Amino acid sequence: MKIVICGKGGSGKSTIAALMAHEYARQKKNVLVVDTDESNMGLYSILGTDSPKDLMEYFGGKKVITEKIMAAMPDVSKVKIFKTKWILGDLPEDYVSHKNGISLVAIGKIHDAGEGCACPMGILANQFFENLSLGEDDVVITDTEAGIEHFGRGIDRHADFILLVLDPSNESVKLSEKISEMAKGLDIPLYLILNKTDRETSAIIKEKISDPSQILGEIPADGEILNKGLRGEEMDIQIQAIGKIAGTLESLK
Ligand SMILES: Nc1ncnc2c1ncn2[C@@H]1O[C@H](COP(=O)(O)OP(=O)(O)OP(=O)(O)O)[C@@H](O)[C@H]1O
Ligand SMILES: [Mg+2]
Repeated sequence: MKIVICGKGGSGKSTIAALMAHEYARQKKNVLVVDTDESNMGLYSILGTDSPKDLMEYFGGKKVITEKIMAAMPDVSKVKIFKTKWILGDLPEDYVSHKNGISLVAIGKIHDAGEGCACPMGILANQFFENLSLGEDDVVITDTEAGIEHFGRGIDRHADFILLVLDPSNESVKLSEKISEMAKGLDIPLYLILNKTDRETSAIIKEKISDPSQILGEIPADGEILNKGLRGEEMDIQIQAIGKIAGTLESLK
């Protein structure tokens, strides 16, 4: 099962990716979290793992991939980074962090000012998902950068499910309209998770969104989540709504 988690900046994508990863790990699934956000640095800490080396380095680094892209221009679909299909066991061990049944891979981070655009990360991420074959008990959870760039990169077209995290903001509601259209265009099921809500904000979001039946679960604003996030501690809290979301996706797959 390949799950992509997306949403507005700060809505709680990484937190929910970590909570879902822990939930599936408790169920003894083989859980791989893929970090495709080249800007943020903290996902590993809430997964409880070490920070992995950029997978891009395994393929020679940004410069090598950029050269491949330039050589293929203008048809970037001709760029071939993987020679063979991969299963989870083929992931290069030096580029994977593990803890408690969760593995983490980071496609690539921006390290230096003026290092150039993130297109090589986008192309590597896209080909990574295209090349990855999953077994029955494998769950891949992809944490994306804020907004809709991941649709442009083609990451979502490899997903079985797209989960859109909405915090209580008008911007999240607007983004949900745009992402609903894009998911429909790809013919991939989209579900919504309301996050950081209370009774009042939950009711307002439900009034504003066009299809409340897409809501798969709701995680209230929670002091423990906030504090663990701030401390950079492992987000290993068991939350009923997350258990329900994980179970529903399993039954839908
Ligand atoms: N249900 C919640 N209750 C309280 N705080 C929360 C909740 N969910 C997330 N947070 C907090 O909100 C902040 C943003 O969360 P997170 O980093 O997961 O968002 P994000 O969407 O991944 O952000 P970015 O767009 O920067 O990647 C963090 O401080 C996190 O601890
Ligand atoms: Mg994040």
